[in-house]
Amino acid sequence: MTQDEMKKAVAEAALEYVQNGWIIGVGTGSTANHFIDALAGIKSRIDGAVASSEASAERLRGHGIEVLDLNSAGPLPVYVDGADESTRHLHLTKGGGGALTREKIVAAASEKFICVIDETKQVDYLGAFPLPVEVIPMARSHVARALVALGGNPVLREGFRTDNGNVILDVHGLRIMNPVELESEIDHIAGVVSNGLFARRPADVLLIGTPSGVNTVTA
Ligand code: 5RP
Repeated sequence: MTQDEMKKAVAEAALEYVQNGWIIGVGTGSTANHFIDALAGIKSRIDGAVASSEASAERLRGHGIEVLDLNSAGPLPVYVDGADESTRHLHLTKGGGGALTREKIVAAASEKFICVIDETKQVDYLGAFPLPVEVIPMARSHVARALVALGGNPVLREGFRTDNGNVILDVHGLRIMNPVELESEIDHIAGVVSNGLFARRPADVLLIGTPSGVNTVTA
Protein backbone atom coordinates (compact mmCIF):
# COMPACT_ATOMS: atom_id res chain seq x y z
CA MET A 1 0.00 0.00 0.00
CA THR A 2 1.43 3.42 -0.93
CA GLN A 3 1.53 6.39 1.45
CA ASP A 4 -1.16 8.11 -0.63
CA GLU A 5 -3.42 5.04 -0.42
CA MET A 6 -3.05 5.11 3.39
CA LYS A 7 -3.91 8.84 3.37
CA LYS A 8 -7.03 8.17 1.29
CA ALA A 9 -8.18 5.29 3.51
CA VAL A 10 -7.74 7.28 6.71
CA ALA A 11 -9.46 10.35 5.24
CA GLU A 12 -12.44 8.22 4.25
CA ALA A 13 -12.56 6.74 7.78
CA ALA A 14 -13.04 10.28 9.16
CA LEU A 15 -16.49 10.41 7.51
CA GLU A 16 -17.68 8.35 10.46
CA TYR A 17 -17.34 11.49 12.61
CA VAL A 18 -19.62 13.57 10.36
CA GLN A 19 -23.30 13.83 11.23
CA ASN A 20 -26.25 14.96 9.13
CA GLY A 21 -26.92 18.69 9.09
CA TRP A 22 -23.47 19.66 10.39
CA ILE A 23 -21.10 22.34 9.10
CA ILE A 24 -17.69 20.65 8.88
CA GLY A 25 -14.29 22.23 9.58
CA VAL A 26 -11.90 21.16 6.84
CA GLY A 27 -8.10 21.24 6.89
CA THR A 28 -5.41 21.59 4.27
CA GLY A 29 -3.01 19.26 2.48
CA SER A 30 -3.08 16.03 0.54
CA THR A 31 -4.82 14.02 3.30
CA ALA A 32 -7.38 16.79 3.79
CA ASN A 33 -7.89 16.80 0.01
CA HIS A 34 -8.84 13.12 0.18
CA PHE A 35 -11.28 14.01 2.97
CA ILE A 36 -12.81 16.77 0.83
CA ASP A 37 -13.24 14.30 -2.04
CA ALA A 38 -14.91 11.82 0.34
CA LEU A 39 -17.12 14.58 1.75
CA ALA A 40 -18.37 15.25 -1.78
CA GLY A 41 -20.04 11.83 -1.71
CA ILE A 42 -22.24 12.86 1.23
CA LYS A 43 -22.60 16.59 0.42
CA SER A 44 -26.40 16.48 0.43
CA ARG A 45 -26.26 15.42 4.11
CA ILE A 46 -24.14 18.35 5.38
CA ASP A 47 -24.87 22.07 5.64
CA GLY A 48 -21.51 23.20 4.29
CA ALA A 49 -17.90 23.56 5.36
CA VAL A 50 -15.44 26.04 6.82
CA ALA A 51 -12.03 25.84 5.13
CA SER A 52 -8.62 26.42 6.69
CA SER A 53 -7.13 27.69 3.42
CA GLU A 54 -8.00 29.22 0.08
CA ALA A 55 -6.85 25.98 -1.61
CA SER A 56 -9.26 23.84 0.41
CA ALA A 57 -12.07 26.36 -0.12
CA GLU A 58 -11.52 26.12 -3.87
CA ARG A 59 -11.55 22.30 -3.80
CA LEU A 60 -14.74 22.26 -1.70
CA ARG A 61 -16.47 24.69 -4.07
CA GLY A 62 -15.30 22.55 -7.01
CA HIS A 63 -17.32 19.70 -5.51
CA GLY A 64 -20.37 21.95 -5.04
CA ILE A 65 -19.94 22.11 -1.25
CA GLU A 66 -20.87 25.50 0.20
CA VAL A 67 -17.96 27.25 1.95
CA LEU A 68 -19.01 29.33 4.94
CA ASP A 69 -17.31 32.03 6.99
CA LEU A 70 -16.19 30.90 10.44
CA ASN A 71 -17.54 34.10 12.00
CA SER A 72 -21.10 33.17 11.06
CA ALA A 73 -20.81 29.36 11.06
CA GLY A 74 -18.78 28.71 14.23
CA PRO A 75 -18.44 27.10 16.69
CA LEU A 76 -18.20 23.88 14.69
CA PRO A 77 -18.91 20.33 15.86
CA VAL A 78 -15.90 18.80 14.13
CA TYR A 79 -12.63 19.69 12.37
CA VAL A 80 -10.79 17.16 10.19
CA ASP A 81 -7.19 17.77 9.17
CA GLY A 82 -3.84 16.07 8.60
CA ALA A 83 -0.52 16.67 10.33
CA ASP A 84 3.20 16.46 9.64
CA GLU A 85 4.04 14.67 12.91
CA SER A 86 2.07 13.28 15.84
CA THR A 87 3.08 11.86 19.21
CA ARG A 88 1.08 9.29 21.15
CA HIS A 89 -0.16 12.22 23.28
CA LEU A 90 -1.79 13.60 20.10
CA HIS A 91 0.53 16.61 20.12
CA LEU A 92 1.10 17.64 16.52
CA THR A 93 3.36 19.56 14.20
CA LYS A 94 1.40 21.14 11.37
CA GLY A 95 1.97 23.75 8.70
CA GLY A 96 3.91 21.85 6.07
CA GLY A 97 1.42 23.38 3.63
CA GLY A 98 1.74 26.79 5.26
CA ALA A 99 -1.87 26.99 6.47
CA LEU A 100 -1.07 26.62 10.18
CA THR A 101 -2.67 29.83 11.43
CA ARG A 102 -6.08 29.26 9.87
CA GLU A 103 -5.83 25.57 10.81
CA LYS A 104 -5.23 26.54 14.42
CA ILE A 105 -8.16 28.96 14.36
CA VAL A 106 -10.62 26.43 12.93
CA ALA A 107 -9.36 23.70 15.29
CA ALA A 108 -9.79 26.07 18.25
CA ALA A 109 -13.33 26.88 17.16
CA SER A 110 -14.28 23.19 16.87
CA GLU A 111 -15.59 20.89 19.53
CA LYS A 112 -13.72 17.85 18.20
CA PHE A 113 -10.47 17.76 16.20
CA ILE A 114 -10.07 14.54 14.20
CA CYS A 115 -6.49 14.28 12.95
CA VAL A 116 -5.89 11.99 9.98
CA ILE A 117 -2.36 10.74 9.30
CA ASP A 118 -0.60 7.83 7.69
CA GLU A 119 1.69 5.76 9.90
CA THR A 120 4.87 7.53 8.71
CA LYS A 121 3.84 10.64 10.67
CA GLN A 122 4.04 8.93 14.09
CA VAL A 123 7.01 10.02 16.20
CA ASP A 124 8.26 9.68 19.77
CA TYR A 125 9.22 13.38 19.91
CA LEU A 126 8.27 16.28 17.65
CA GLY A 127 11.03 18.18 15.88
CA ALA A 128 12.44 16.01 13.10
CA PHE A 129 9.96 17.74 10.77
CA PRO A 130 11.03 21.43 10.69
CA LEU A 131 8.60 23.48 12.77
CA PRO A 132 6.74 26.08 10.65
CA VAL A 133 6.36 29.54 12.20
CA GLU A 134 4.21 32.19 10.48
CA VAL A 135 5.79 35.63 10.82
CA ILE A 136 4.84 39.24 9.94
CA PRO A 137 7.34 40.05 7.15
CA MET A 138 8.98 43.07 8.88
CA ALA A 139 9.74 40.88 11.94
CA ARG A 140 11.48 38.11 10.00
CA SER A 141 15.05 38.77 11.22
CA HIS A 142 14.02 39.57 14.79
CA VAL A 143 11.99 36.35 15.04
CA ALA A 144 14.78 34.33 13.41
CA ARG A 145 17.27 35.53 16.07
CA ALA A 146 14.84 34.65 18.85
CA LEU A 147 14.34 31.16 17.38
CA VAL A 148 18.12 30.65 17.24
CA ALA A 149 18.24 31.61 20.94
CA LEU A 150 15.71 28.82 21.55
CA GLY A 151 18.11 26.33 19.92
CA GLY A 152 16.59 26.16 16.44
CA ASN A 153 17.88 26.84 12.96
CA PRO A 154 15.18 28.89 11.16
CA VAL A 155 15.11 28.82 7.37
CA LEU A 156 12.93 31.18 5.34
CA ARG A 157 10.46 29.30 3.10
CA GLU A 158 11.59 30.89 -0.17
CA GLY A 159 8.98 32.36 -2.51
CA PHE A 160 6.09 31.50 -0.21
CA ARG A 161 3.38 33.76 1.26
CA THR A 162 0.60 32.48 3.48
CA ASP A 163 -3.08 33.17 2.77
CA ASN A 164 -2.65 35.95 5.37
CA GLY A 165 0.19 37.62 3.44
CA ASN A 166 2.95 36.56 5.83
CA VAL A 167 6.18 34.54 5.57
CA ILE A 168 7.09 31.16 7.05
CA LEU A 169 10.27 30.30 8.93
CA ASP A 170 10.83 26.52 9.06
CA VAL A 171 12.78 25.77 12.22
CA HIS A 172 15.19 22.86 11.89
CA GLY A 173 17.15 21.09 14.58
CA LEU A 174 14.63 21.13 17.42
CA ARG A 175 14.07 18.10 19.64
CA ILE A 176 10.84 19.13 21.32
CA MET A 177 10.53 17.60 24.78
CA ASN A 178 7.84 19.99 26.06
CA PRO A 179 5.61 21.05 23.14
CA VAL A 180 3.04 22.87 25.31
CA GLU A 181 5.73 25.15 26.76
CA LEU A 182 7.53 25.70 23.45
CA GLU A 183 4.26 26.52 21.66
CA SER A 184 3.59 29.35 24.13
CA GLU A 185 7.20 30.54 24.15
CA ILE A 186 7.32 30.90 20.35
CA ASP A 187 3.89 32.56 20.23
CA HIS A 188 5.19 35.23 22.62
CA ILE A 189 7.97 36.40 20.27
CA ALA A 190 6.88 39.77 18.84
CA GLY A 191 6.06 39.35 15.16
CA VAL A 192 5.04 35.69 15.36
CA VAL A 193 1.49 35.12 14.13
CA SER A 194 1.39 31.46 15.17
CA ASN A 195 3.50 28.33 15.14
CA GLY A 196 2.84 24.80 13.93
CA LEU A 197 2.79 23.13 17.34
CA PHE A 198 -0.70 21.92 18.20
CA ALA A 199 -0.09 20.94 21.82
CA ARG A 200 -2.17 23.35 23.90
CA ARG A 201 -5.10 22.23 21.76
CA PRO A 202 -4.05 18.76 20.57
CA ALA A 203 -6.17 16.45 18.46
CA ASP A 204 -9.04 14.71 20.24
CA VAL A 205 -8.96 11.67 17.97
CA LEU A 206 -6.03 10.45 15.89
CA LEU A 207 -6.81 8.17 12.96
CA ILE A 208 -3.71 6.41 11.62
CA GLY A 209 -3.67 4.82 8.18
CA THR A 210 -1.56 1.64 8.05
CA PRO A 211 -1.25 -1.12 5.42
CA SER A 212 -3.44 -3.32 7.61
CA GLY A 213 -6.20 -0.78 8.24
CA VAL A 214 -7.01 2.37 10.20
CA ASN A 215 -6.08 2.59 13.89
CA THR A 216 -7.84 4.96 16.29
CA VAL A 217 -6.18 6.73 19.23
CA THR A 218 -8.20 8.98 21.54
CA ALA A 219 -6.94 11.59 23.95
C1 5RP B 1 -0.89 22.05 6.06
C2 5RP B 1 -0.82 21.01 7.10
C3 5RP B 1 -1.04 19.59 6.67
O1 5RP B 1 -2.04 19.04 7.45
C4 5RP B 1 0.23 18.81 6.84
O2 5RP B 1 1.27 19.48 6.14
C5 5RP B 1 0.07 17.38 6.32
O3 5RP B 1 -0.06 17.41 4.93
P1 5RP B 1 -0.31 16.12 4.07
O4 5RP B 1 -1.68 15.61 4.42
O5 5RP B 1 -0.21 16.61 2.66
O6 5RP B 1 0.76 15.11 4.39
O7 5RP B 1 -0.58 21.24 8.26
O8 5RP B 1 -0.56 23.31 6.56
